[in-house]
Amino acid sequence: MLPDRAAIPTDLELAMPHKPQIEHALQRCTSQELRRLLTIACETAFAAGQLIKDRFHQPHDIRMKGTINLVTETDLASEALILETLAQKTPAVPIMAEESTQSMGVRSQPLYWVVDPLDGTTNFAHGVPHFAVSIALLENGRPKVGAIYHPMLDELYCASIGGGAWLNDRRATVTQTNELINGLVATGFPYDIDQTLPKVIRQLERVLPVVRDIRRAGAAALDLAYVACGRLDGFYEINLQPWDTAAGWLLVEEAGGQLSNFNGGPYSPFVPQILATNGRLHAALLQRLQ
Ligand code: IPD
Ligand code: CA
Ligand code: CA
Repeated sequence: MLPDRAAIPTDLELAMPHKPQIEHALQRCTSQELRRLLTIACETAFAAGQLIKDRFHQPHDIRMKGTINLVTETDLASEALILETLAQKTPAVPIMAEESTQSMGVRSQPLYWVVDPLDGTTNFAHGVPHFAVSIALLENGRPKVGAIYHPMLDELYCASIGGGAWLNDRRATVTQTNELINGLVATGFPYDIDQTLPKVIRQLERVLPVVRDIRRAGAAALDLAYVACGRLDGFYEINLQPWDTAAGWLLVEEAGGQLSNFNGGPYSPFVPQILATNGRLHAALLQRLQ
């Protein structure tokens, strides 16, 4: 059952003033409800981003979730802030969040938030200033609004369904690159690389020689945001989680790009393959990944 409309507040009073950088995106929302939801997603991502930025130069308390999979006190603090804010603004909407492992259960709900409180934790922990907060709202398995905030650059990427993709106050659009050899493509390496190395190497061997270059910047949400705003022509990765991709998925679609799994079928954040491109390069990249 969808939450009662009344559960989504109409008289939104956010703790912080609207960032002028989201005004254009808000104006293009196709309904008042989307406008409210996008405001919540953006303002919450922005607040969490400030928290992360404030802690960037401090020493970190690092714990291991796996051999190479880190979590810091800042991931947890960011997630706590986001959960509290969303629970206050949309009390009836459940939340799937990376560091709240039991929250995967909300997947069966028709409407829920999907949160990565700090995408690019390895960068953050090593002092590399490339990471983001990612927040999306999924309805019946599809994103309605999405926000990705890069606090070190004060770049807020956001999208609402039918309302376009935005980078701060500028419309985001994918590139027009037609030839793979002119394309800059990003990828990432999964935390279970000890199991997946042969597959990852095979994909690199197939893609690297036919594109201009490959980037592995370390934050999948930003990789998708960069495809949406035309800094990259494509992105692929295996074994990502819904919180890595949900907001970026909507951004790429609203920016005119294309997403699929490696069979060319519709993208689902619950299938561990993502190919996102400017559309023009999709078939050619897909053929390299199949
Ligand atoms: C990771 C980053 C990375 C990707 C990993 C993700 P995290 O997210 O997005 O770029 O390659 O697979 O898990 O752990 O920093 O939130
Ligand atoms: Ca992530
Ligand atoms: Ca994370």
